[in-house]
Amino acid sequence: MIKESDLKILFTEEKIQLEVGKLGAKLNEEYKDEELCLICVLKGSVMFMADLAKHLKMPLKMEFIKLSSYGSGFTSTGRVSAVDIALPDLNGKNVLIIEDIIDTGHTAQFLMNFINHNFKPRTLRFCSLLDKKCKREVEIEADYYCFEIDNKFLVGYGLDYDGYYRNLPYIGFVEGV
Ligand code: IMP
Ligand code: MG
Repeated sequence: MIKESDLKILFTEEKIQLEVGKLGAKLNEEYKDEELCLICVLKGSVMFMADLAKHLKMPLKMEFIKLSSYGSGFTSTGRVSAVDIALPDLNGKNVLIIEDIIDTGHTAQFLMNFINHNFKPRTLRFCSLLDKKCKREVEIEADYYCFEIDNKFLVGYGLDYDGYYRNLPYIGFVEGV
């Protein structure tokens, strides 16, 4: 069990909110005069999606799906399981997937393929709060991200260790893991 006192802060609440606000402004430009459907990948993206959505001014829908690729450890299993992937009709829609972090890229690839196989969206893009580019195992890039990070295991602001710490308003890491 990690103790909160063992965490080193990587991104403060203020820094996160600043970057999320900037991303919101960018999305308002990119999807100006358009409708947008956000797809929140639970559970990790819940904080990011809620904060980002508050900045958005276009007609907006918010959908939620639940995927899982991590066990309770520090490294990605590379296997993605669709726990609940019920989605409305996305044909002809502007769809933006909202993730907490891209690590190996398996989750992102699974989801992009799933949506492309089942629908013909007008646009399909991927937005992640964090991008661990150095860990990528499949070829996939986020269309939008707030922070690039190196190979650290992070918790807070939606990210968990064994289900804990999603509620922290900042993002931290434990040295040595
Ligand atoms: P990927 O399929 O390997 O890209 O993993 C993506 C998922 O792994 C994310 O949506 C997170 O839920 C989880 N994950 C990856 N890195 C971390 C981390 O540093 N802390 C907590 N969860 C992580
Ligand atoms: Mg996730």
